[in-house]
Order: sequence, then structure tokens, then C-alpha cells
Amino acid sequence: MATEQWGIGIVGLGGIANTHLTAYRNLGLKVVGGADIDPERVKLMQAKWELPIATTDVESLIAHPEVRIVDVAAPHFLHVREPIFRWAAKYGKALFVQKPLEQYYENARKLVAIAEEAGIPLMVNQNSVFVPGFQVMERYLREGAIGTPYYCQIENRNWFDLSGHAFYGKQERWVLSDMGVHHLALVVHWFGNWRSAYAIMGRDPSQTGIVGDTWNVMNIRFENGMQACIINNWSYRGHLPRPHMVEEVVIQGDKGAITGTSEGFVIVTAEPPAEIRPRFQGKWSPDAFGNAMLHYIRSLDEGKPYLCSGRHNLQVVALIEAGYRSVQEGREITRKEIMGEDA
Ligand SMILES: NC(=O)c1ccc[n+]([C@@H]2O[C@H](COP(=O)([O-])OP(=O)(O)OC[C@H]3O[C@@H](n4cnc5c(N)ncnc54)[C@H](O)[C@@H]3O)[C@@H](O)[C@H]2O)c1
Repeated sequence: MATEQWGIGIVGLGGIANTHLTAYRNLGLKVVGGADIDPERVKLMQAKWELPIATTDVESLIAHPEVRIVDVAAPHFLHVREPIFRWAAKYGKALFVQKPLEQYYENARKLVAIAEEAGIPLMVNQNSVFVPGFQVMERYLREGAIGTPYYCQIENRNWFDLSGHAFYGKQERWVLSDMGVHHLALVVHWFGNWRSAYAIMGRDPSQTGIVGDTWNVMNIRFENGMQACIINNWSYRGHLPRPHMVEEVVIQGDKGAITGTSEGFVIVTAEPPAEIRPRFQGKWSPDAFGNAMLHYIRSLDEGKPYLCSGRHNLQVVALIEAGYRSVQEGREITRKEIMGEDA
């Protein structure tokens, strides 16, 4: 079946739905319509995007015969997402869900169980994995351009105060779960199963409307010996920001190093001594969003496994869980402790 025959229904017509719509239109994908519980949002987005269907009746959109994929862009809380998952299960629709799947491991497990029990596909839109620049980086990594990688560092630092937002930063978990999850998913995709993690984090008290962490540092050990340090800092007032989407990535191997961002990077190799500056097209926004959906559609169409499945993503949510638990208990947390038999 052609990709444009896979009808998409977007649930949650807030800020990020605009990026989804831009990306899907760029790729000629079919958006059947959108739903939001806020009638003002429905009116505004219908006028802006000329959506064929725009409704406050979420169930009716999911039930629509042309909707084959439910694109969940409503907030990442169990009480919001569970009814959407249950409707998708009831009508046998595939789910494509914004990161983070949930902020808490146990809640993410409940969501994955709903999809698995109903036998419906579930992919988490961890779009970092589909960023054009990161995909090129990955190719060099996998081809062994820097030898065997042993250390990766990702640093995202900026001043980003969402005190005035309706739900961002209003829970105990904030920058690690909502932002850091991009990088956690990326390193799990690149380096495989993680074994243990140790975190520090804190809150800048001048972000008065924020309850959760405004900065965090995650140190991660992987089963293959790889180690990573992931820094997400949204309370940096300094003069050298490395904001989200152009966060700095460093990967060291025993024969070279990769340094740069998703928009441009340099590979320095030891054998032969060289500096490679790959050229590529596309940026995180909106291309990674479109690439992720296209990957999902093609995989479903061909009956093949897809990246970032709900089951695989539990390992990513488990890293979030480990980060917060590590800070609470002041110690390194293992994957086995969080995931038990699922590890
Ligand atoms: N790069 C990324 O991957 C990325 C970027 C931004 C946001 N997100 C994720 O997307 C989700 C939405 O974020 P946003 O920035 O668009 O938030 P937002 O507040 O702008 O939009 C959320 C929308 O969902 C609607 N909504 C709430 N409950 C609903 C329900 N039960 N059914 C239908 N609609 C409902 C709200 O009315 C609102 O219009 C979050 O989970 C966020 O983490 C991902």
C-alpha cells in the first residue's frame, strides 16, 4: 500500500502538532484529521491547517475508518494517554506516541501492556533517532570510522524557563524526563542495553513556576563497556549556550572522535589521519518527525519490525526512572533493579 494511504489521526492539537503537520505535508502523508479536548484549539488548528476533520470527540476520530495510525500528541501522563490507548485498542489502530511515553516506568509499562494485550502496534516518536545529522553520525559509527567507541558525551545547555506553561515543569520530574529522554533514547539506540546509571540534578530557584529539575547530569554504563555522560541544563545563563537541536555531541573511539551537532560535525580519524566533514540535508525539526512516521508506516506496510517500539522504549523510560531514583538514593542504579524480569 502506498505511504499516502496510511491515514493519520492526530490526537492533541497543541504546539508540537504544528511540526507534525508540517513534516507530514512535506512528505505527502495523509492526515485524516485531528482531535483536541479544547474547542478553541480545534477551531484554531482547523483554520490554520484546513484539516478535513477537526473535533473535540477524540473517540470518533480514532474510530474513523480512514484513520490507521493514531498520532498521540496529547500530554505524556497516564490519565491522559490511557483512554486514548484504550480507544486505539478497541478500534484496532496503530499507535505513534510522543516522547516521553510516560515519566514513570510503572505507568509506561501499563501503556505498553494495553497495546500488547490488544495486539496493536506501538511506536514511540523518539525523533532523535531519526534526525538526519545523527543518522549520518550513526553510519560512520557503525562502519567503524572511529574504531571501537568507548565514551559519548552530549551536552544541551540553555536558559529555557517554562514557568508559564500549563503542564511543562509542573511535576516532580521535568528536564530529564521531558528533554533528556531525547538523548537517552539516542544513546540506547546507538550503544545498546544500558547496565547502570548515576545522576546528579538540581533546580534553579529563580525559575519560580518550575517544580522539577532544571538541570541534570546522567552517567551511564552500557553492557558492552561503553560509557556516556548526558547533560541537560535548562538553567544556564552563560554566554555559550548549546540549545536543544544543536546540542553538542562528542563520541570517542580507539581510532578517532566525532564532534559536533546534528547540523554539522567533524570526524577525526587516526588511521589514516584525516578530518571528514560530511555533507547532508535536513534538520531535527521538522525532518526527524517526518522520518520517524515514514519509518513506522513503511515497517507496518512491509510487516517488518520498527525502531523505538513501546517494548524497547521501556528501557529508555527505565533510564529516566534510574536517574530520579539515583538522586533520591545517592547511588548507582541498575537496569535490573528497575525492570526486573523485563531487563
Ligand atoms: N521534539 C519532540 O519530540 C517534542 C516536542 C514538543 C513536545 N513533545 C511532546 O508532545 C506532547 C504535547 O506537547 P505540546 O508541546 O504540543 O503541548 P501543548 O500543551 O502545546 O499541547 C497539548 C495539547 O493536547 C491537548 N489535550 C490535553 N488532553 C487531551 C486529551 N485527553 N485528548 C486530546 N487532546 C488533549 C491540549 O488541549 C493541548 O492542545 C508532550 O508529550 C510533549 O512531551 C515532543
